[in-house]
Amino acid sequence: MVVWAVHCRLRSQLAPPRSQSPQSESEAESEYVEVASLSQFGENSQVLSEDSPVGTILLARSPNSPDVIYAVNPTCTHAGCTVDWNVARELFVCPCHQSQYAVDGDVVGGPAPSPLPRFNVKVEGDRVLVKPLPG
Ligand code: FES
Repeated sequence: MVVWAVHCRLRSQLAPPRSQSPQSESEAESEYVEVASLSQFGENSQVLSEDSPVGTILLARSPNSPDVIYAVNPTCTHAGCTVDWNVARELFVCPCHQSQYAVDGDVVGGPAPSPLPRFNVKVEGDRVLVKPLPG
C-alpha cells in the first residue's frame, strides 16, 4: 500500500502539465492542406497555383529526383514579381531583376532582400499537400 502511494505521487510529479504537452502527431498532420495534384505537372517541372488555401504557391520538381517537390510563395521579395522555377539551374529566378533563390527559398543572387516563404511538402497518392514552415 505504501509503495502504491509513493508511485502515484512520483507519477504526478513527473507528468507534464496538460497545457505543456507536445502537439500530437495527428494535430501536426492536420496542418497540411492540399494545394495541387501530381497530374497537374504533366510534362512541366512547375505548377503555379494562385488560389490555393495557402495563397499563391509555386511547386517545383527536382530534375534529378522527380519525387522531390519544393514549394515556395513565388512573390519575389524585391518588388513583387512572380519567380519561375529554372529546372536546369535548380533555382527560383525572378524575371524582373534576376534575383535568384535556392530550393529552400534563400536568396543566392540579385537584389532580393529576404528569402521566399517556403513549405513542407508531402504527396499522398495524386494529392500534393503543404504546410508552412516558420520563417
Ligand atoms: S522584383 Fe524580383 S528581382 Fe526585382
